[in-house]
Amino acid sequence: MPVWNARISKKSSNVFQKFGNSIDIDKRLYKEDIQVSIAHTEMLFKQKIISFKIKNKIIWGLSKIKNEISKKKFNFNTKYEDIHMNIENRLFEIIGDDAGFVHTGRSRNDQVITDLKLWLKNSTTEINNLLNSSIKLIIKISEANIQTIMPGFTHLKNAQPISFAHYLLAYVEMFKRDKSRFNNNIISLNENPLGSAALSGTSFNIDRVYTTKKLNFSKPTGNSIDTVSDRDFVIDFLYAVSVCAMHISRFAEEFIIWNSDAFKLIKLNDKIVTGSSIMPQKKNPDPLEFLRGKTGNAYGNLISMLTILKGLPLSYFKDLQDDKEIVFKSFDQIKYSILILNEILKNFSVNKKRMYEFAQEGYTTATDLADYIVRDLNVPFRKAYKITSKIVNYAEKNKKRFDELDIKDIKKIEPKLNEEILNIFDLKKSIKSKISYGGTAFENIRKMIKKYKKELK
Ligand code: ARG
Repeated sequence: MPVWNARISKKSSNVFQKFGNSIDIDKRLYKEDIQVSIAHTEMLFKQKIISFKIKNKIIWGLSKIKNEISKKKFNFNTKYEDIHMNIENRLFEIIGDDAGFVHTGRSRNDQVITDLKLWLKNSTTEINNLLNSSIKLIIKISEANIQTIMPGFTHLKNAQPISFAHYLLAYVEMFKRDKSRFNNNIISLNENPLGSAALSGTSFNIDRVYTTKKLNFSKPTGNSIDTVSDRDFVIDFLYAVSVCAMHISRFAEEFIIWNSDAFKLIKLNDKIVTGSSIMPQKKNPDPLEFLRGKTGNAYGNLISMLTILKGLPLSYFKDLQDDKEIVFKSFDQIKYSILILNEILKNFSVNKKRMYEFAQEGYTTATDLADYIVRDLNVPFRKAYKITSKIVNYAEKNKKRFDELDIKDIKKIEPKLNEEILNIFDLKKSIKSKISYGGTAFENIRKMIKKYKKELK
């Protein structure tokens, strides 16, 4: 019988026991649950609520349970609903009725979120470390590709020449923001829920500051009703996962396009492609597609949690039990997404020649020409834009790239222009000139890489 069964005269309906138990999911919290129970027990003793002997007995029993679970010798039972009840029940088996003191002045309502907050703190560190590994890989590839020239796109049309490193480092900025987004949640995760009990606090003379210190929180939560109802920290986590997944998805989409037979800017190696069951020639970028598709789950999890909370009165309701399944799913997904992303970063090659040739297509230095006309002919930008458009039209009509144009023809459009402008069409020069802070100039990229490396230390 579960311990809460004292006043319930009939055995729980089988279907509900099957459907309503959460042990298969929340057993992932066993370490945190035992850590929390030990801190609580020590506090009860310090406050003279339980005796020295009972404290030791409980802590000994809990340590034995931890050992059993970690050695896979623990028998989880759906009958006891969740991780808290499974552990408490086992404690009764091991130390007898004194186990009944462990739940003095607390409830599963504060216990479960204390466990979950501790778990999320560790997971936040794990994700941060994983993101750092992606950032390091990107920096390494960037260092080798500072001088790799490719077209930058807007609307997926060739726009302006850029360094491939500059493109890659855009993702360093994104992942840095992701890290901050995960870390922003630390303030809430550092508030200790333990001692809020069911919803109103407790009449026992507990010391919440003591458990706060023991469990490495920074302060106790301020309102017991809010504490057991609050899942904002879950939403913040799910949101951070969603944005990070979205960044990875954008990367995936772009790499799928660049790896396509139409673009051929990069080539995925055989470690990260799959074959077709009917078309022998195929090498498909499945892992990238998987990353892109999985983003939907991350968003779904965020929406699930927001929906569970919408209209839920204070304080605890069973609705909230699903938070853990949602959090674990999102965590596992983002963890594996980052690991897969890292595999992709390690297993592709850059088609530098094709990138360069492609950057020559589509008049990508047209803006440079307009800028030159502004500077050297002292013409307003809008007028320079028109002159440049005429030159592009002429080149397009004659099926010529900028660098294939004859200065005589250009002079027909704008007599004040001379040979000097042929320099403008050089892709490398164009990139070199983008020295504004954050721009694609090679020098800027070198400085940025230095800065990112320093930040990682
Ligand atoms: N397994 C429960 C959950 O995760 C623990 C809290 C149960 N509290 C209760 N009043 N039934 O939400």
